[in-house]
This record gives sequence, C-alpha cells and structure tokens, in this order.
Amino acid sequence: MVIFMERTYSMIKPDGVARGLMGEILGRIEKRGLKIIGMKFTVLEKAKVEEHYAEHSAKAFYAGLVEFVASGPSLSLVIEGNDSVKIMRAISGETDPADAAIGTVRGDIALAMDRTLVHTSHSLEAAEREIKLHFGGAAFMVYKRCDEDFLYE
Ligand code: CMP
Repeated sequence: MVIFMERTYSMIKPDGVARGLMGEILGRIEKRGLKIIGMKFTVLEKAKVEEHYAEHSAKAFYAGLVEFVASGPSLSLVIEGNDSVKIMRAISGETDPADAAIGTVRGDIALAMDRTLVHTSHSLEAAEREIKLHFGGAAFMVYKRCDEDFLYE
C-alpha cells in the first residue's frame, strides 16, 4: 500500500471553543488515527485572519467571517498522517452543514454556514501556506502512537 504521509492545518474556530467542543473534535481526529503534532490556543489577530482567508476577500461573507474568527479563542492544529489533507476534510464534512453527511463534524454538530466549527486546509499547497502562517518555523512534536503499527502497514 502506498502511504501519503502528509501534514495539514486545521483550526477549531471560536464557535467550537465557545461551545465546549474542542475535546469532541480532537477526539474524532485522534480516533481516526491522525497524529496531532502542533497545537496553538490563541485569539488570532485580525490581520492574520484576513491573510488566512485572503482567497475569499471578494465575497460578501468575508468581513463577517474575519470578524468572527478573530473574535475569540481558536485552536490551531498541525495534523500528520496518511492523506491527512483529504481525511481531515472528510472528518469536517461539507462546508454547508445542511449538506454535510451524518458522521462528520459539521453534519453532526453544526447548523449554519457561518458557524462551521472547524476549518481545514483544502489542498497540500494550502496546508503548507497555512501551517507557515500560523506556526512560522516552529518545530513540531515527534512521537510514535502506540497503534501506529496497526494503522499503517
Ligand atoms: P472554512 O472552512 O473556515 O473556510 C471558509 C469559511 O467561510 C467556511 O469555513 C465557512 O464557515 C465560511 N463560509 C463559506 N460560505 C459562507 C457563506 N455563504 N456565508 C457565511 N460564511 C460562509
């Protein structure tokens, strides 16, 4: 089997923190077998959120999105594992919670497009950019999960 070991960026946004869902969401990521190697609990500066969501800057929801994500604590994550970009998007579900499948974070515990609980990089290129934006040159944790020999061949 070919393993696509890669890193992705995810954020539990202020609604996830305020609703006490950090543990629930982190649990889903860990249970799936992905490894959390970086974690930063901060209130993001508006300028950083603007840069993070720059691709949406022309959209009507951009200002509200930036204001909300900078409004309170969020948890930034660097996640490592086989196909982690794709798998984190599968864990999160479709952007619109109304379209998100049951079993996904948004399909199970979110209701509205502007309160989607998590952000997760849409591509490997975006992951690299977002990890750099939020973590700079930080070193990430290196450890072995006790189930690693059973998660991978
Ligand atoms: P996220 O994965 O963080 O990436 C962009 C975010 O914009 C998305 O999650 C949604 O929360 C938000 N978003 C996308 N479309 C809309 C919309 N039509 N109205 C409000 N927010 C939106």
